[in-house]
Amino acid sequence: QLDIDATRVVSPVSPTLYGLMTEEINHSYDGGLYAEMIQNRSFHETWEGTPPWDLIRRGTAAATRSYDKTDGPSKALPYSLKLAVTSASSGNEAGLTNPGYWGYGLRPNTTYSGSLYAHADSADIGPITIRLVSNATGTTQAQAQVAIKPGPWARYEYKLTTAAIAPSIANHIEFTVSHPGTVWLQMISLMPPTFHDRPNGTRPDLMERMAAMHPKFLRLPGGNYLEGNKVEDRFDWKKTLGPLVDRPGHEGPWGYWSTDGLGLLEFLEWCEDLNVEPVLAVYAGYSLHGTHIATGKDMEPYIQDALDEVEYVTGDVSTHWGAERARDGHPAPFPLHYIEVGNEDYLDRSGSYTARYAQFAEALHARYPQYKLISTDGNSDYETKVHSDISDEHYYKSPADMMDMSQHYDKVSRTGPKIFVGEWATRSGSPTPNFGDALGDAAWMTSMERNSDLIIMASYAPLLVNVSPGGMQWPTDLIGFDAGTTYASPSYWAQSLFAAHLGDGTAASSISGANPRFFYSATVSTKEKQLHLKLVNASSVSQPISLKLAGVQSAAKATIISLHGATFEATNTINTPDAIHPVKSAAAISGGHWDHTVPPLTIEIIDVPLR
Ligand code: AHR
Repeated sequence: QLDIDATRVVSPVSPTLYGLMTEEINHSYDGGLYAEMIQNRSFHETWEGTPPWDLIRRGTAAATRSYDKTDGPSKALPYSLKLAVTSASSGNEAGLTNPGYWGYGLRPNTTYSGSLYAHADSADIGPITIRLVSNATGTTQAQAQVAIKPGPWARYEYKLTTAAIAPSIANHIEFTVSHPGTVWLQMISLMPPTFHDRPNGTRPDLMERMAAMHPKFLRLPGGNYLEGNKVEDRFDWKKTLGPLVDRPGHEGPWGYWSTDGLGLLEFLEWCEDLNVEPVLAVYAGYSLHGTHIATGKDMEPYIQDALDEVEYVTGDVSTHWGAERARDGHPAPFPLHYIEVGNEDYLDRSGSYTARYAQFAEALHARYPQYKLISTDGNSDYETKVHSDISDEHYYKSPADMMDMSQHYDKVSRTGPKIFVGEWATRSGSPTPNFGDALGDAAWMTSMERNSDLIIMASYAPLLVNVSPGGMQWPTDLIGFDAGTTYASPSYWAQSLFAAHLGDGTAASSISGANPRFFYSATVSTKEKQLHLKLVNASSVSQPISLKLAGVQSAAKATIISLHGATFEATNTINTPDAIHPVKSAAAISGGHWDHTVPPLTIEIIDVPLR
């Protein structure tokens, strides 16, 4: 028996409950959301050389490539790739090839915009021919030429336009010459059409997936990505601004180099494009390998960086960093309410966070009293030590553990800080969650909605994964993609549906006799006059329920959206993207009584019109 009194709201639901968190992990940005198609466009060198670039020598062509540490187009990129061609002719071309981020997603009748920095030793080398080529057939999918002038470094642009080809990702790009000569290359870029046509923008399909989650905020820029393995690998936001050629890039904590093409301004424009607010995490003097900056004098430059960063986000053009943002192309300040100090600082077992937080909080409060501060030493097994406005708590659990934890916040004191569940996920599937994970997530979301007087924000993590072999570092990520398409995991559907039917208050309710793996949430939308019911049956048997709904229309037509998986392991993949998807139906409810059966392994989102 489930009794719901929709006329009695017992606690508020936070309008900002559901948001997004991402970071540079699983090629979320480079090779993902950031639309750049060329992998290692600035020839960042590793011990293996400059992968994944390869030399082309057709027929009798002779050429070498080397890494020139002494010649580059900018202070940030003082190096380049030197292509020295001693023999080449038409049909015997020499050059370079790049496989992209596991392919190039090509579509019919589409223009791809390219640019590169180069200089040549003489004009004799002739033009560079640029071709997008099918891996399977060797067919040229699009072609352009760029004539490189001898003399100083210059930036060149090119366009590659496809004809009526079939969409595909198994393609690569080639840059070839058919005359001898030497050319130095740097920052070779190729962008597809982007979301809102922003230059240096994002992939439309991934942006649309995020938009469909109805998020209210974006926590940025991480996660571990904020902290870096070492202090010098932190997200040093000042080095991520301005022309791409002036961004050095940096070592990310997930085993690959970040171009910082998606820098602080691009993060903020991403927020703008999704119509969400940033939750700005500032580096708080601790990096993952365990180093922390001593508080006091040593910390001052980092505090100044945080203050400057807030000014870059929110200052008007009369401020130093507001003016810098305007020069970068965005005169209007961005909205901001929350600043997070660090990430997962409960992992700093030296206990330095208390003093570090205090120094940051004092400076941030003094300069920006209007913003709420989020601390990061809170977690279920760890007492929050600092007195912040909001405590960020993270949960990564198995389906069973997530379900078992669904009562946790019912018992948490309401006198402490508000809670931001800044990272959470039910984890068993890989690369994306399976239906068992979606059930764990749904159970957990019912508890977050019920406790949303306390939990004011929550964001699943990680959000994105490039599922191509080599793309993933962290299994169980919400949205999978490759160079061409994206797919929604069962958990993605559960979360999008919960967020689309959130409500603004929790209705009084009581339940008896249900199986222990049955979970529910009952919220009301006062404006739309709807009762939103979320029913989660995570057991393998049907759950009959007799519902008594006070306050709904006497002859109510309920809409039901259900998500069902045959087993816990059932899932969606890049090749079977729609195996699990929402299905709509309707039910007539008369006099507020409804005998309803929730099938096994099913999540239902039900809207019932209120009187
Ligand atoms: O979401 C993956 C990682 O999990 C985050 O970078 C970190 O904050 C947490 O430990």
